[in-house]
Amino acid sequence: MKSNPTTDQMKRGEFLRSLGMSSAALMAFYCMGTTLTSCSKSNDDPAPATPGTGTGTTTGTGLTGNADSAKGAINYTLDLTDTNYSKLKTAGQYAIVGSTLVAKVKGGNFIALSKVCTHEGTTVQYRSDSDDIYCSNHGSEFTTTGAVKVGPAAKALTQYKTALSTDGNSLTVTA
Ligand code: FES
Repeated sequence: MKSNPTTDQMKRGEFLRSLGMSSAALMAFYCMGTTLTSCSKSNDDPAPATPGTGTGTTTGTGLTGNADSAKGAINYTLDLTDTNYSKLKTAGQYAIVGSTLVAKVKGGNFIALSKVCTHEGTTVQYRSDSDDIYCSNHGSEFTTTGAVKVGPAAKALTQYKTALSTDGNSLTVTA
């Protein structure tokens, strides 16, 4: 026969009584603890993450902000004078930055797309020869705006906005 819930409850009750506290006293104690905890929590909430460096596969200097979509909205700036990103001044080059792929396409414009192939999640690459985005896993191809050209991927890559500073030395990518 399985355990009898009534017996179990009685056992718990007896145990609490054996501690010398009524269940009401225990509840009051528990609630007070909860209130105190939540009070101190609301005062100690960590500040929103300050833009940091080093998200994604390209880490280190030259990046401020959030390049990782798992951490919230994409919003970061690349220092194109930094050695990590200076290649992006050259048309036909690209870099994987956090969850994104950033490229200066053949025509000279900047693009930023999700790096995650919508088929099975492989990191995509920019191909300057064909001026498109390619997934080496199963051969999906996307346009530079993220639309599917060739499957098996069926969904477009998320496209982000890019803005180049007037001096051409920093590129901001936002959702
Ligand atoms: S994961 Fe990209 S085509 Fe399959």
